[in-house]
Amino acid sequence: STTPVTVTVTGAAGQIGYALLFRIASGQLLGADVPVKLNLLEIPQGMKAAEGTAMELDDCAFPLLAGIDIHDDAAAAFDGVNVGLLVGARPRGAGMERGDLLAANGGIFGPQGAAINAGAADDVRILVVGNPANTNALIASAHAPDVPAERFNAMMRLDHNRALAQLAAKTGSSVAEVKRVAIWGNHSAKQYPDIAHATIAGRPAPEVVGDSAWVTDTFIPTVAKRGAAIIEARGASSAASAANAAIEHVHDWVNGTPEGDWTSVAMPSDGSYGVPEGLISSFPAVSRDGRWEIVQGLDIAADARAGIDVSVAELAEERDAVKEFGLL
Ligand code: NAI
Repeated sequence: STTPVTVTVTGAAGQIGYALLFRIASGQLLGADVPVKLNLLEIPQGMKAAEGTAMELDDCAFPLLAGIDIHDDAAAAFDGVNVGLLVGARPRGAGMERGDLLAANGGIFGPQGAAINAGAADDVRILVVGNPANTNALIASAHAPDVPAERFNAMMRLDHNRALAQLAAKTGSSVAEVKRVAIWGNHSAKQYPDIAHATIAGRPAPEVVGDSAWVTDTFIPTVAKRGAAIIEARGASSAASAANAAIEHVHDWVNGTPEGDWTSVAMPSDGSYGVPEGLISSFPAVSRDGRWEIVQGLDIAADARAGIDVSVAELAEERDAVKEFGLL
């Protein structure tokens, strides 16, 4: 098709935005034959930097880039949006309580949800990256009653990819040989990375690893706390790997997941695996015909059950807190 797909990126002048926009414009988000129109949304203080990024996008002369508009108004930025990447968020400031953080982000994602409701295209897909991503997605979705809830995802793909990399390194395998890893629950240190159903070069991952203490004591905490480790090492948070994960998430959502594998997606629960309906929680999922389906029928052992329950309880607490603030 030659009609450009409208992609809206919020927080466009931030670190992730800078790593993300060039890849979208080069065709990696949707495919090398799909023209894209970029709408960048920033706060007024970010507009000048966003204009600079737009100048660089121009200077790449990407054949697929059909245009760029920069906005500090959500209604304009989401008008006609097909794919929305909600990256801009309020970071936790010094002395800020968890409740303050949820409330500050509710003030961003509520109005953005309303703007999506008012202006989005019928096929809109929204991926929330800005933290706390799962609850921000829930708030945006609650303010977009005319958009099917399943069109609001939160990003777990970075956690998923981190798990693939750790497993490959531990077993001396290539990441391409590692399949069917799952991340459950919240994008937080309480997520539950799960290798029980994973395979490495076709063999059960727990057997190839052969070290259940490593899984519990090293693998799970390494994946769950990788973001902090990156900040410690780099002096700045994960940006290129987060942008990469966002690209892969949307690409698979639109184009499908590879046969025989799955990925991890935070989407509204339908009650699968005992996760309360409506919470935006991570599940193993495949994409078919442009829709995510939760992988069904996996045996959940006691340790996994406990890990999932802890993470889901955190999501329920976040939901209850934002409900109390009147954000849902
Ligand atoms: P950054 O601070 O470099 O950029 C954020 C940008 O968002 C800034 O340019 C800011 O002006 C803009 N912004 C703030 N409020 C906005 C609003 N209401 N509308 C539009 N733009 C707004 O941060 P960075 O590194 O790009 O990270 C962005 C978010 O992504 C953070 O919340 C971070 O915690 C999260 N993140 C999520 C990951 C995930 O796996 N889900 C992984 C890594 C980061």
